[in-house]
Amino acid sequence: MGVQVSCVQLEADCKSWDRLEMMEALQTQPGLPVTFDEHSKIIHLLERIESANEMISVERFINKDTKRIGDLSVPRLGKRSQKAFEDHDVLVKSIQECGKVVGAEFGMTTQQMVEDLLKCKTQRFSIALADPLGFDCPLVYVSRSFENLTEYPSEFCLGRSCRFLQPTVDIINDAVNLNERRRMRDFCGNAHDAGSTIVCLLLNERRSGIRFWNLLKMVYIKVSKKPYIVALQTHVDCYMPGTLRQRTADPKLNHDIVEVCRNLLDEVEKVRGRLSLKTEASLEELRTDAWTQLDKLQKLAPC
Ligand SMILES: Cc1cc2nc3c(=O)[nH]c(=O)nc-3n(C[C@H](O)[C@H](O)[C@H](O)COP(=O)(O)O)c2cc1C
Repeated sequence: MGVQVSCVQLEADCKSWDRLEMMEALQTQPGLPVTFDEHSKIIHLLERIESANEMISVERFINKDTKRIGDLSVPRLGKRSQKAFEDHDVLVKSIQECGKVVGAEFGMTTQQMVEDLLKCKTQRFSIALADPLGFDCPLVYVSRSFENLTEYPSEFCLGRSCRFLQPTVDIINDAVNLNERRRMRDFCGNAHDAGSTIVCLLLNERRSGIRFWNLLKMVYIKVSKKPYIVALQTHVDCYMPGTLRQRTADPKLNHDIVEVCRNLLDEVEKVRGRLSLKTEASLEELRTDAWTQLDKLQKLAPC
Protein backbone atom coordinates (compact mmCIF):
# COMPACT_ATOMS: atom_id res chain seq x y z
CA MET A 1 0.00 0.00 0.00
CA GLY A 2 3.02 2.23 0.07
CA VAL A 3 2.61 3.61 3.55
CA GLN A 4 5.32 6.24 3.96
CA VAL A 5 5.03 7.02 7.62
CA SER A 6 8.25 6.75 9.53
CA CYS A 7 8.44 6.77 13.29
CA VAL A 8 9.93 10.25 13.28
CA GLN A 9 7.33 11.66 10.95
CA LEU A 10 4.48 10.17 12.89
CA GLU A 11 5.82 11.54 16.12
CA ALA A 12 6.28 14.94 14.53
CA ASP A 13 2.68 14.87 13.31
CA CYS A 14 1.48 14.04 16.76
CA LYS A 15 3.89 16.34 18.54
CA SER A 16 1.49 17.71 21.08
CA TRP A 17 -0.61 14.60 21.18
CA ASP A 18 0.21 12.86 24.39
CA ARG A 19 2.81 10.15 23.97
CA LEU A 20 1.08 7.99 26.53
CA GLU A 21 -2.10 8.15 24.53
CA MET A 22 -0.18 7.15 21.43
CA MET A 23 1.41 4.23 23.21
CA GLU A 24 -1.94 3.16 24.51
CA ALA A 25 -3.28 3.20 20.97
CA LEU A 26 -0.32 1.11 19.89
CA GLN A 27 -0.86 -1.19 22.83
CA THR A 28 2.67 -0.78 24.09
CA GLN A 29 3.87 -0.31 27.63
CA PRO A 30 4.91 3.09 28.97
CA GLY A 31 8.64 3.14 29.37
CA LEU A 32 9.32 0.73 26.51
CA PRO A 33 10.69 2.13 23.28
CA VAL A 34 7.95 2.63 20.72
CA THR A 35 8.48 1.54 17.17
CA PHE A 36 6.10 2.73 14.56
CA ASP A 37 7.36 0.81 11.59
CA GLU A 38 4.76 -1.93 11.47
CA HIS A 39 2.07 -1.28 8.95
CA SER A 40 -0.78 -2.84 10.82
CA LYS A 41 -0.04 -0.94 14.00
CA ILE A 42 0.24 2.34 12.14
CA ILE A 43 -2.99 1.71 10.34
CA HIS A 44 -4.63 0.80 13.62
CA LEU A 45 -3.33 3.96 15.26
CA LEU A 46 -4.50 6.16 12.42
CA GLU A 47 -7.88 4.48 12.42
CA ARG A 48 -8.14 5.26 16.11
CA ILE A 49 -7.09 8.84 15.52
CA GLU A 50 -9.80 9.38 12.95
CA SER A 51 -12.28 6.94 14.43
CA ALA A 52 -15.17 9.34 14.38
CA ASN A 53 -14.30 10.86 11.07
CA GLU A 54 -16.80 9.91 8.43
CA MET A 55 -15.27 11.81 5.58
CA ILE A 56 -11.78 10.58 4.82
CA SER A 57 -10.06 7.30 4.45
CA VAL A 58 -7.05 6.28 6.48
CA GLU A 59 -5.03 6.13 3.30
CA ARG A 60 -5.62 9.79 2.54
CA PHE A 61 -4.48 10.71 5.98
CA ILE A 62 -1.35 8.63 5.66
CA ASN A 63 -0.37 9.90 2.25
CA LYS A 64 -0.66 13.57 2.90
CA ASP A 65 2.28 15.85 3.17
CA THR A 66 2.91 16.53 6.85
CA LYS A 67 3.18 20.27 6.25
CA ARG A 68 -0.40 20.21 5.11
CA ILE A 69 -1.58 18.34 8.13
CA GLY A 70 -5.26 18.85 8.41
CA ASP A 71 -5.79 20.42 5.04
CA LEU A 72 -7.15 17.17 3.74
CA SER A 73 -8.64 15.61 6.78
CA VAL A 74 -10.35 16.48 10.00
CA PRO A 75 -9.78 13.67 12.46
CA ARG A 76 -10.90 14.10 16.03
CA LEU A 77 -7.58 14.81 17.72
CA GLY A 78 -8.76 16.94 20.60
CA LYS A 79 -10.48 14.46 22.85
CA ARG A 80 -8.38 15.60 25.79
CA SER A 81 -9.39 19.25 25.36
CA GLN A 82 -12.98 18.16 24.88
CA LYS A 83 -12.90 16.15 28.10
CA ALA A 84 -11.41 19.01 30.12
CA PHE A 85 -14.25 21.17 28.94
CA GLU A 86 -16.86 18.74 30.19
CA ASP A 87 -16.06 20.06 33.67
CA HIS A 88 -19.10 22.25 34.38
CA ASP A 89 -17.00 24.98 36.01
CA VAL A 90 -14.75 25.33 33.00
CA LEU A 91 -17.75 25.50 30.69
CA VAL A 92 -19.54 28.12 32.78
CA LYS A 93 -16.44 30.28 33.27
CA SER A 94 -15.65 30.16 29.56
CA ILE A 95 -19.18 31.03 28.53
CA GLN A 96 -19.13 33.91 31.02
CA GLU A 97 -15.93 35.19 29.50
CA CYS A 98 -17.48 34.85 26.03
CA GLY A 99 -20.48 36.79 27.23
CA LYS A 100 -18.23 39.60 28.50
CA VAL A 101 -16.24 39.78 25.29
CA VAL A 102 -18.92 39.35 22.64
CA GLY A 103 -22.25 39.99 24.45
CA ALA A 104 -22.29 43.60 23.29
CA GLU A 105 -22.24 42.37 19.67
CA PHE A 106 -25.79 41.20 20.21
CA GLY A 107 -26.98 43.99 22.48
CA MET A 108 -27.14 41.62 25.43
CA THR A 109 -25.82 41.75 28.93
CA THR A 110 -23.24 39.15 29.88
CA GLN A 111 -25.80 37.50 32.13
CA GLN A 112 -28.45 37.22 29.40
CA MET A 113 -25.98 35.81 26.96
CA VAL A 114 -24.60 33.26 29.39
CA GLU A 115 -28.11 32.08 30.26
CA ASP A 116 -29.06 31.77 26.61
CA LEU A 117 -25.94 29.85 25.71
CA LEU A 118 -25.98 27.51 28.67
CA LYS A 119 -29.65 26.69 28.22
CA CYS A 120 -29.21 26.36 24.45
CA LYS A 121 -32.13 28.75 24.10
CA THR A 122 -30.83 31.13 21.57
CA GLN A 123 -31.01 30.89 17.82
CA ARG A 124 -29.55 34.34 17.43
CA PHE A 125 -25.87 33.66 17.26
CA SER A 126 -23.51 31.00 16.18
CA ILE A 127 -20.65 30.66 18.62
CA ALA A 128 -17.81 28.17 18.75
CA LEU A 129 -15.00 27.87 21.27
CA ALA A 130 -11.69 26.14 20.64
CA ASP A 131 -8.63 25.22 22.66
CA PRO A 132 -5.56 26.65 20.89
CA LEU A 133 -3.27 24.58 23.12
CA GLY A 134 -4.98 21.34 22.13
CA PHE A 135 -3.70 19.38 19.17
CA ASP A 136 -5.22 20.75 15.95
CA CYS A 137 -7.01 23.53 17.85
CA PRO A 138 -10.11 21.45 18.63
CA LEU A 139 -13.59 22.81 19.19
CA VAL A 140 -14.76 22.42 22.78
CA TYR A 141 -18.15 24.10 22.55
CA VAL A 142 -20.60 24.99 19.78
CA SER A 143 -23.94 26.76 20.24
CA ARG A 144 -27.28 25.47 19.00
CA SER A 145 -27.26 28.07 16.28
CA PHE A 146 -23.86 26.81 15.05
CA GLU A 147 -25.45 23.38 14.67
CA ASN A 148 -28.37 24.86 12.74
CA LEU A 149 -26.17 26.95 10.50
CA THR A 150 -23.75 24.17 9.63
CA GLU A 151 -26.05 21.12 9.97
CA TYR A 152 -23.36 19.39 12.04
CA PRO A 153 -24.43 18.23 15.52
CA SER A 154 -22.13 19.10 18.40
CA GLU A 155 -21.29 15.39 18.85
CA PHE A 156 -19.56 15.56 15.48
CA CYS A 157 -17.92 18.95 15.99
CA LEU A 158 -16.35 18.67 19.43
CA GLY A 159 -12.74 17.57 19.54
CA ARG A 160 -12.12 18.49 15.87
CA SER A 161 -10.66 21.46 14.09
CA CYS A 162 -13.43 23.58 12.57
CA ARG A 163 -11.94 23.16 9.11
CA PHE A 164 -14.55 20.49 8.40
CA LEU A 165 -16.74 23.40 7.31
CA GLN A 166 -14.50 24.13 4.36
CA PRO A 167 -15.14 22.62 0.94
CA THR A 168 -14.15 18.98 1.16
CA VAL A 169 -12.84 19.10 -2.40
CA ASP A 170 -9.30 20.46 -2.18
CA ILE A 171 -9.19 22.19 -5.54
CA ILE A 172 -12.16 24.35 -4.55
CA ASN A 173 -10.97 24.96 -0.99
CA ASP A 174 -7.52 25.97 -2.23
CA ALA A 175 -8.85 28.21 -4.99
CA VAL A 176 -11.32 30.03 -2.78
CA ASN A 177 -10.01 29.88 0.78
CA LEU A 178 -6.24 29.44 0.73
CA ASN A 179 -5.20 32.90 1.93
CA GLU A 180 -7.84 33.00 4.62
CA ARG A 181 -6.78 29.57 5.81
CA ARG A 182 -3.19 30.75 6.08
CA ARG A 183 -4.26 33.74 8.15
CA MET A 184 -6.42 31.57 10.39
CA ARG A 185 -3.67 29.00 10.82
CA ASP A 186 -1.29 31.73 11.86
CA PHE A 187 -3.86 33.18 14.26
CA CYS A 188 -4.83 29.86 15.84
CA GLY A 189 -1.36 28.34 15.86
CA ASN A 190 0.59 31.13 17.56
CA ALA A 191 0.03 32.55 21.00
CA HIS A 192 -1.89 35.84 21.11
CA ASP A 193 -2.92 38.20 23.87
CA ALA A 194 -6.50 38.15 25.10
CA GLY A 195 -8.56 40.45 22.90
CA SER A 196 -6.59 39.75 19.70
CA THR A 197 -9.11 39.55 16.89
CA ILE A 198 -9.25 38.36 13.30
CA VAL A 199 -12.00 38.76 10.70
CA CYS A 200 -12.24 36.28 7.83
CA LEU A 201 -14.62 35.50 5.01
CA LEU A 202 -14.86 31.83 4.05
CA LEU A 203 -16.63 29.73 1.55
CA ASN A 204 -18.03 27.02 3.81
CA GLU A 205 -20.10 23.91 3.26
CA ARG A 206 -23.02 22.66 5.27
CA ARG A 207 -23.14 18.97 5.96
CA SER A 208 -25.54 18.58 3.03
CA GLY A 209 -22.97 20.15 0.70
CA ILE A 210 -24.81 23.47 0.28
CA ARG A 211 -22.27 26.27 0.44
CA PHE A 212 -22.51 29.67 2.12
CA TRP A 213 -20.38 32.75 2.71
CA ASN A 214 -19.33 32.57 6.32
CA LEU A 215 -18.16 35.77 7.95
CA LEU A 216 -16.05 34.74 10.88
CA LYS A 217 -14.79 36.85 13.76
CA MET A 218 -12.42 35.19 16.20
CA VAL A 219 -11.18 36.60 19.50
CA TYR A 220 -8.68 35.25 22.02
CA ILE A 221 -9.98 35.08 25.58
CA LYS A 222 -8.39 33.86 28.82
CA VAL A 223 -10.20 31.64 31.30
CA SER A 224 -8.33 30.92 34.53
CA LYS A 225 -5.12 31.94 32.73
CA LYS A 226 -5.75 29.44 29.91
CA PRO A 227 -6.32 30.76 26.38
CA TYR A 228 -9.38 29.93 24.32
CA ILE A 229 -10.53 31.21 20.97
CA VAL A 230 -14.12 32.29 20.63
CA ALA A 231 -15.54 32.47 17.12
CA LEU A 232 -18.73 34.08 15.87
CA GLN A 233 -20.05 32.78 12.56
CA THR A 234 -22.48 34.72 10.39
CA HIS A 235 -24.07 33.68 7.15
CA VAL A 236 -23.72 36.47 4.57
CA ASP A 237 -26.78 35.70 2.51
CA CYS A 238 -25.92 37.32 -0.81
CA TYR A 239 -24.62 36.64 -4.28
CA MET A 240 -22.69 33.45 -4.92
CA PRO A 241 -22.05 32.08 -8.41
CA GLY A 242 -24.41 29.20 -9.17
CA THR A 243 -21.59 26.77 -9.85
CA LEU A 244 -20.10 27.34 -6.39
CA ARG A 245 -23.32 26.81 -4.50
CA GLN A 246 -23.25 23.06 -4.11
CA ARG A 247 -20.50 20.50 -3.51
CA THR A 248 -19.73 18.27 -6.45
CA ALA A 249 -17.19 15.45 -6.56
CA ASP A 250 -16.60 15.59 -10.34
CA PRO A 251 -12.88 16.56 -10.75
CA LYS A 252 -13.27 17.95 -14.27
CA LEU A 253 -16.24 20.05 -13.27
CA ASN A 254 -14.42 21.38 -10.20
CA HIS A 255 -11.42 22.26 -12.34
CA ASP A 256 -13.67 24.15 -14.80
CA ILE A 257 -15.46 25.96 -11.96
CA VAL A 258 -12.14 27.26 -10.65
CA GLU A 259 -11.13 28.48 -14.12
CA VAL A 260 -14.42 30.23 -14.73
CA CYS A 261 -14.50 31.88 -11.30
CA ARG A 262 -10.93 33.17 -11.32
CA ASN A 263 -11.75 36.88 -11.83
CA LEU A 264 -14.53 36.77 -9.30
CA LEU A 265 -12.25 35.16 -6.74
CA ASP A 266 -9.69 37.95 -7.24
CA GLU A 267 -12.44 40.41 -6.33
CA VAL A 268 -13.43 38.34 -3.29
CA GLU A 269 -9.81 38.65 -2.10
CA LYS A 270 -10.15 42.45 -2.25
CA VAL A 271 -13.34 42.31 -0.19
CA ARG A 272 -11.49 40.16 2.35
CA GLY A 273 -8.59 42.58 2.46
CA ARG A 274 -10.96 45.40 3.45
CA LEU A 275 -12.86 43.31 6.01
CA SER A 276 -9.68 42.06 7.64
CA LEU A 277 -8.76 45.60 8.66
CA LYS A 278 -12.03 46.12 10.52
CA THR A 279 -11.35 44.09 13.62
CA GLU A 280 -12.99 46.77 15.78
CA ALA A 281 -16.28 46.72 13.85
CA SER A 282 -19.32 44.87 15.17
CA LEU A 283 -20.42 41.67 13.52
CA GLU A 284 -23.54 43.39 12.22
CA GLU A 285 -21.50 46.16 10.56
CA LEU A 286 -19.15 43.60 9.09
CA ARG A 287 -21.99 41.55 7.73
CA THR A 288 -23.64 44.56 6.07
CA ASP A 289 -20.31 45.56 4.61
CA ALA A 290 -19.56 42.07 3.31
CA TRP A 291 -23.08 41.75 1.92
CA THR A 292 -22.85 45.04 0.01
CA GLN A 293 -19.44 44.30 -1.42
CA LEU A 294 -20.12 40.70 -2.37
CA ASP A 295 -23.42 41.57 -3.96
CA LYS A 296 -21.67 44.01 -6.30
CA LEU A 297 -19.78 41.04 -7.73
CA GLN A 298 -22.93 39.92 -9.51
CA LYS A 299 -21.78 42.19 -12.32
CA LEU A 300 -18.95 39.76 -12.94
CA ALA A 301 -21.47 36.90 -12.94
CA PRO A 302 -19.22 34.26 -14.40
CA CYS A 303 -21.32 31.23 -13.84
C1 LIG B 1 -13.07 28.67 17.37
C2 LIG B 1 -12.77 28.48 15.91
C3 LIG B 1 -13.81 28.53 14.99
C4 LIG B 1 -13.55 28.37 13.62
N1 LIG B 1 -14.59 28.46 12.76
C5 LIG B 1 -14.35 28.26 11.43
C6 LIG B 1 -15.43 28.34 10.51
O1 LIG B 1 -16.57 28.62 10.86
N2 LIG B 1 -15.15 28.13 9.21
C7 LIG B 1 -13.88 27.84 8.76
O2 LIG B 1 -13.70 27.64 7.57
N3 LIG B 1 -12.84 27.80 9.62
C8 LIG B 1 -13.05 27.99 10.93
N4 LIG B 1 -11.99 27.94 11.82
C9 LIG B 1 -10.62 27.77 11.32
C10 LIG B 1 -10.16 26.32 11.19
O3 LIG B 1 -10.50 25.57 12.33
C11 LIG B 1 -8.63 26.27 11.00
O4 LIG B 1 -8.03 27.01 12.03
C12 LIG B 1 -8.21 26.86 9.67
O5 LIG B 1 -8.70 26.04 8.63
C13 LIG B 1 -6.68 27.01 9.51
O6 LIG B 1 -6.02 25.86 9.87
P1 LIG B 1 -5.59 24.70 8.85
O7 LIG B 1 -4.72 25.31 7.82
O8 LIG B 1 -4.88 23.72 9.73
O9 LIG B 1 -6.83 24.13 8.23
C14 LIG B 1 -12.23 28.13 13.18
C15 LIG B 1 -11.19 28.07 14.12
C16 LIG B 1 -11.45 28.26 15.46
C17 LIG B 1 -10.31 28.22 16.43
